Amino acid sequence: MNKFQLIINYLNYRFTAQTKYDVHSPFVFQLLTNVINDKTVLPAYKEIENLRSSLLKNKTEILIEDFGAGSLKGNTKTKTLAEIARNAAKPPKYAQLLYRLVKHFQPDSLLELGTSMGISTAYMAKASPATKITTIEGSEAIAKLATENFSLLNLSNIKVITGNFDVQLPLLLENRHEFDFVFFDGNHRKIPTLSYFESCLKHKHNDSVFVFDDIHWSAEMEEAWEIIKQSPEVTVSIDLFFIGLVFFRKASTKENFIIRF
Ligand SMILES: C[S@@+](CC[C@H](N)C(=O)[O-])C[C@H]1O[C@@H](n2cnc3c(N)ncnc32)[C@H](O)[C@@H]1O
Repeated sequence: MNKFQLIINYLNYRFTAQTKYDVHSPFVFQLLTNVINDKTVLPAYKEIENLRSSLLKNKTEILIEDFGAGSLKGNTKTKTLAEIARNAAKPPKYAQLLYRLVKHFQPDSLLELGTSMGISTAYMAKASPATKITTIEGSEAIAKLATENFSLLNLSNIKVITGNFDVQLPLLLENRHEFDFVFFDGNHRKIPTLSYFESCLKHKHNDSVFVFDDIHWSAEMEEAWEIIKQSPEVTVSIDLFFIGLVFFRKASTKENFIIRF
């Protein structure tokens, strides 16, 4: 999808999306009121945004494997830390939404696919220090930087796994029963996204929360999002345009919400 089309789609979303006053589901209404639309600025945000600011100024170059391209080995290229921070990390608005979601749901176990330099991971780890977070990153050099960033922020509830999702995810799931929260933020293509979703589905429970990044980023991702929403196991989905939330609560009637955020 070209940038122009993405902007048109976004404008269309802004004009047609619902607000909480259009929503009849008590679960979604509460979530919108108490979590999604909460604009309180919290001290934890500042600490992580200070780290982001210093990364955005850092012109150090590192050699990284580009896993987004999808090949198992990846292509290597040189990027500055500033470029990685600018292009890969979730912007504050969405990273802070992740913080609020994790604080609200207090998951015991959380899995993130796509660590990059750890900005979103740090937000989620700060939100709930008791949550055991596993995050997977393909590029060794980036994973090392993320680990350093977690130390800088005094975060000790994060385990970083380095390697391709296609290899590491099945290994991880082999020894696990359930995940309470999964954030899918890497390899944004249809088939891989659906494959990671299907794998994690076997490890969800009634109250698990799945969050998908960049659901409208490309035609492929839009197709993947459509299929995810329609999955018989999904009851509630909430489309916030740049991020999609998925719930499996049997108490909720199946409904797909498009909410202005
Ligand atoms: C969008 S970035 C993650 C950003 C991070 N969650 C944040 O908001 O700070 C996606 C990351 O996933 C990694 N990635 C993409 N495809 C992958 C794959 N197949 N296996 C492992 N890592 C992959 C990339 O190297 C990249 O660092």
